[in-house]
Amino acid sequence: EKNGFDTFMLKEIHEQPRAYEDTMRGRIDEEKQQIVLPGVSLTPEQIREIKQIQMVACGTAYHAALVGKTVVERLTRIPVEVDLASEYRYRMPIIRENTLVIAVSQSGETADTLAAIREAKQWGARVMAITNVVGSSVAREAEDVLFTLAGPEIAVASTKAYSSQLIAFYLLGMFMGQSLGTLDPVTSVEMIAMLERLPFQVEEMLRHQDPIHGIAEHITQQEHLFFIGRGLDYSLAMEASLKLKEISYIHSEAYAAGELKHGSLALIEDGTPVIALATQELLLEKTVSNIKEVKARGAYVIALALEGNTELEKTADQVIYVPRTYSLLTPALAVVPLQLLAYYTAALRGNDVDKPRNLAKSVTVE
Ligand code: M6R
Repeated sequence: EKNGFDTFMLKEIHEQPRAYEDTMRGRIDEEKQQIVLPGVSLTPEQIREIKQIQMVACGTAYHAALVGKTVVERLTRIPVEVDLASEYRYRMPIIRENTLVIAVSQSGETADTLAAIREAKQWGARVMAITNVVGSSVAREAEDVLFTLAGPEIAVASTKAYSSQLIAFYLLGMFMGQSLGTLDPVTSVEMIAMLERLPFQVEEMLRHQDPIHGIAEHITQQEHLFFIGRGLDYSLAMEASLKLKEISYIHSEAYAAGELKHGSLALIEDGTPVIALATQELLLEKTVSNIKEVKARGAYVIALALEGNTELEKTADQVIYVPRTYSLLTPALAVVPLQLLAYYTAALRGNDVDKPRNLAKSVTVE
């Protein structure tokens, strides 16, 4: 059942090209170059009326929603808030007329996410679900459902479900952007082409993972480390940090690169590993100056950079390259080496990667 892989997690990491394809299948009208979402019954008029979007989720799904916020705002210009489901319920959220709430959940059974949906519905919001499980509670309680078609995810640490949630957000953002006219046809055609290339790019990345193994050997002895990034790289840093903590039991923190000097820089010592995500071209210069900042304090920097940005080799100790794509789509590629890094580190430590201590696959209690 593990298909020749040592663990479910590794198998699921390798299933991502397939999960991307399945999640896109039937949702791109090639002729019209349009996104079609059969499970979403929002009409163009209803989309035009949406004043705000609130996303609710837990754990990794929350991190996917953070990427989703950037994607949906960029493509639709509708303001998006993201909340941890466990916080949303108790903060008396302001749910005005024409609020769309999007609940994200792999299992569709997470207690806090379900409770957030019920809270939102009570105040009259329309609820859409992004979930991986047909017939799940979240799917049943939402008006619109956008299924990720990642297939069953067994490992506690979410990998292909997260990345398929990103694909779902790309489709949704484009769908709404096309309907609103906020996504122009030229960009749209380009994005569709880039989206369709992602599975092949992931496949290619999975073939070249040796350097990541070496980096895992380096961090396996460490007690704590940092992930830093800006913009989408910051959202991805949070996911990378959770993944590493969850299965390797190494303490790590994700920090917005620009925030370092407001406190955490004090923790950087000689040899502290800092994984710097620098895949967002427009923010590159700023991130590079943050890398220099930590380097000057002795950090051991592992940078994640876009192919061709070799100048990072001058500043960082190690560079992992990510293939180029449309900037909003980069997290769907950049997540792969970060998953593998967490995986190899945990495996080197001899941990039970599929069943980390203290955790359950689905959190059905509050
Ligand atoms: O099934 P859900 O997506 O609602 O689960 C949410 C979280 O419990 C889940 O993502 C958790 O954080 C994972 N173990 C992370 O790998």
